[in-house]
Amino acid sequence: MKFDIVGFGALNLDKLYQVNRIAHEDEESFITGKSESCGGSAANTIVGLARLGMKTGFIGKVATDQEGSLLHNNLQNENINTKGVLLTDDGRSGTVSGFVDSDGQRALYVDPGVNDCIGPHEIDINYINSSKILHLTSYVGKYSERSIKTQESVLNEISNNVSVSFDPGRLYSERGIKFLDRLLNRSDILLINQSELRLLTGKNKDSSFTTHKTLENVQNLQQEYGIGMIVVKMGDKGSFVTQINESQFIKAFDVSCIDTTGAGDAFNAGFLFGYLKGEDIKTMAIMGNYVASRCVTEHGATDGLPDMQNLEDIISNGLNSI
Ligand SMILES: Nc1ncnc2c1ncn2[C@@H]1O[C@H](COP(=O)(O)OP(=O)(O)OP(=O)(O)O)[C@@H](O)[C@H]1O
Ligand SMILES: [Mg+2]
Repeated sequence: MKFDIVGFGALNLDKLYQVNRIAHEDEESFITGKSESCGGSAANTIVGLARLGMKTGFIGKVATDQEGSLLHNNLQNENINTKGVLLTDDGRSGTVSGFVDSDGQRALYVDPGVNDCIGPHEIDINYINSSKILHLTSYVGKYSERSIKTQESVLNEISNNVSVSFDPGRLYSERGIKFLDRLLNRSDILLINQSELRLLTGKNKDSSFTTHKTLENVQNLQQEYGIGMIVVKMGDKGSFVTQINESQFIKAFDVSCIDTTGAGDAFNAGFLFGYLKGEDIKTMAIMGNYVASRCVTEHGATDGLPDMQNLEDIISNGLNSI
């Protein structure tokens, strides 16, 4: 196999502005600082796996602008194969402009740009068939149907030997289960958080979290779609994992949290690393919690992501004792 995992999702340059105050309609405020980083949910997860020594590739689209070359170079600098990254002269690369005040309140504006227009004829199916896992995340925007349809058609064409992991995020989840029917049908691993699970299933929407209700929602999904593994991410509590009829709750690591940006993507990297290493689902979840715990102790989605040595140390110290 050429790749352990190939990601397929939006590529965005995140432009974060620190502001005096988030301006409402007809108001003005001022910017006190600015930072830029490469983002996109699938890309963050693939960066996490590349840092852990996995052979990685990516499918996405950027334009021939400054943002596009930053996004492209960032993947290459992380040792991710970029043969699947499409380049176009027509349009802008995806960006997310974020405005954050001193209390950490934020307003985000996504400009999907060329992420929204990936057609099925542009994807090399052999690129995906030479990977053990295809990891899918969401597309947003007015014209995102085209890229979503492409993800669906790719799933119809790829070999049965490729495992599919899928993190629908909030924007896909709130469109409901019927909208995601085709993606869920081919998913072997579903990675979702608690509120997304409720939005997706439309069940227990207004109730507060209980293990019983989460389990009920997970079991319904599993029965309907036959998904082998379902992971419910639960923020600082940890994660709840289900494989066939067995569910377990795995407590989060006790760390001092600075910024939760990308925690879910980091969890996915650790969990899928465990999957690729043939670990059991409990160890996979511990690895997910561990990689995510390292992510939240630094600013941004990828600064805190650990390397192979960090993870080997933690494994040799006995993951099960945690
Ligand atoms: N404060 C924290 N301390 C330790 N671990 C944390 C903390 N917050 C999150 N995590 C870890 O990160 C994982 C993923 O976080 P979360 O459940 O918020 O996912 P998410 O909602 O998908 O995140 P995202 O907003 O990045 O998509 C959790 O399962 C947990 O392991
Ligand atoms: Mg998430």
